Formats: sequence, C-alpha cells, structure tokens
Amino acid sequence: MSEAYVGLESVKWNNGQVDLLDQRLLPEEIVYLPLTTKEDVWEAIRHLKVRGAPAIGIAAAYGVVVASQAAETIEAWQKAVIESAQYLATSRPTAVNLFWALDRMKAAAEQIIAQGFSLEDSKKALENEAIAIQQQDEETNRAIGEYALSLFKEDMGVLTHCNAGGLATAKYGTALAPFYLAKERGMKLRVFADETRPVLQGARLTAFELHQAGVDVTLICDNMAGMVMSKGWIDAVIVGTDRVAANGDVANKIGTYSVAVLAKAHGIPFYVACPLSTIDLNTPTGSEIPIEERPDEEITEGFGKRTAPQGVKVFNPAFDITPNEYVAGIITEKGIVTAPYEENLRKLFEN
Ligand code: MRU
Repeated sequence: MSEAYVGLESVKWNNGQVDLLDQRLLPEEIVYLPLTTKEDVWEAIRHLKVRGAPAIGIAAAYGVVVASQAAETIEAWQKAVIESAQYLATSRPTAVNLFWALDRMKAAAEQIIAQGFSLEDSKKALENEAIAIQQQDEETNRAIGEYALSLFKEDMGVLTHCNAGGLATAKYGTALAPFYLAKERGMKLRVFADETRPVLQGARLTAFELHQAGVDVTLICDNMAGMVMSKGWIDAVIVGTDRVAANGDVANKIGTYSVAVLAKAHGIPFYVACPLSTIDLNTPTGSEIPIEERPDEEITEGFGKRTAPQGVKVFNPAFDITPNEYVAGIITEKGIVTAPYEENLRKLFEN
C-alpha cells in the first residue's frame, strides 16, 4: 500500500525562513517564495499566496518565529512575539485557525519565559512549537481522512467545493484526505470538484492535486452542481471549513451554502471535515462569524481580462454560512459529530 498523496507542500520551514508555495500561480507555475519578515507573511496570507484555514495558521506561526528571531534580549523577544501575533491576526478575519495558531504561539512563549530559558533556547523552543503545529496538522488530517472514508463506499460519487486538500493544510487536507486514503487502498471514488468562483480554488488547486495523485476527479462549474446531483451522480458532499460556530453553523468558501441547499433538495448527505482547531466554541452561531469581503477585481477581472463593465457595483464575500440543519456530520480527528451540535461539539473538548 503506497502513499497516494504526492502533492506539494504549501509551507516549508527552511532554517529560519519560510519557503511558501505561491498558490496564486498554480497550476501553471510552481514557485516557492522565501519569506523572512512578518510583513512578508502578512502579505502572503492577505493576497492568498497561502490560503486554506490550517495552512494560514501554520504560516502565521512561522511568521511569529521570523519576527522574533533577531531579538537581542528576552524582553525584546517577548515583545516581538506579542506584537507580531497581533499584527498577523489582522491579515484575514474568517478562518479561526489563524487566531488559534497565534494564541498557541503566545501561550508557548509565556510558558518558555516562565521556565527561565536562555534567549537562544527560548527562540529554539518557539521554533519547535511552530514545527509541532505543522506536524500535528498532518497527523490530524490522516485521522480525519479515516473517519471520512468510513462514510463512503466503493464507486460513490462525492462532490467537493473549494480546496480543503493538502495545499490548504500541512498534508492530505481535511475534505480531500479520504480520497487519498481510498486511492491508497484501491477503493474507487468518483470526485466532482466545483471550480469555485471567483478565484477558482476548485479548478486550480483541488482538480490539480487530485489529478496529480491519480484520483478520479471531474471538474465542473459551480452552477452545474444541481444538474449532476439531479442525474444521480452524487452520493455525498464533503467540504472543509474556516470556522464552525458552537451551534454547528459552518463558514466556508462562498458557494458552500448553495451546495448544501442543493444537497438537501436531492436527499444527499452534506459533510464538513475539520480539525478541532477550526471549531470555535466562543462564537455562538454563524451570524457572529466575521465574513471577509475581497476586492471587486476578483470578479470583474479575475481571469486577467475584464469581464464586467467599468464602474459596476460588485459584492464579493469570500465565505458564506451553512446553517447547522443542513449538516449531516462534522468529521474531526476525534470522530464524527452529529446533531445536536451545541451539545456534541462541546463534548469533543471535554477530555
Ligand atoms: O479563501 P480560501 O482559499 O482561504 O478559502 C479556503 C476554504 O474555504 C477552505 O474550504 C477552508 O479553509 C478549509 S481548508 C482545509
């Protein structure tokens, strides 16, 4: 049984610098950018060079390391950790993994200080924390993949939206992890990938990484999802998420809500896959999740050429909320959570 995942690493820690895969250039060009400052990392997150909730968190954790590694005293080091974490938290608002990773880095720094390490040992320990965030994400995703795969049977058609794959995480992805595990085990699944307007994470990233791994993937435009469901080609939907509220409402890439409504209309289960770090018990419902709005140009000239009249009004939210009643299950590294979400999501964190 050989490993099916052959994908590119979205973030590589390279001896004091972040080598970041510029995802805006995929699938045409594979370019790693060397990032050496917190400003570089902020800019990479804001402009979608790195994207996907877990990958954003990993990049930001390394951003704190690069911002603090030149400090000459423990006080200056601690200040750099706190200030860079605050700064990086302003890069994008919706994915809670960003804030989770930054909080974890700040907490690690506090513990390190409490232990009275030397400056050099403190820096090393914080670097190790960022490396651990990345390594744990890989293990987590494999566990998510195992649970998700238990929901699928040979020859099923499964639709996904956006990219919740290896490119969006340390490895394997969340929603795409079961497809890699199925491939490893010789189990055939037919994956349908929505292209995911406006910036085409489905076409450029999901279709790219699944196709590269030899997974049976068919690319469709977003507005074809209802048609392929009506033909009986889809047995399940699985997507990732940027934040799950305490009541099980799910924020994910714009268009996810439409897919969930279509799935319900066709009696197809709609699953969400995510690590515990994406579940935000401090946000009671989806209406309190901040939804990022992005530049008009993503819609009016997203293909490098103008496709809309100059001056037209544009609305470009990057995410939408799928209410919990559309969600058949939330697949985590600790198992599959079903309704009532308020109660059952909380249980995940109890031990
Ligand atoms: O704007 P993006 O590309 O960062 O949006 C990504 C998504 O919506 C993903 O589905 C989500 O972050 C989960 S990634 C495992």
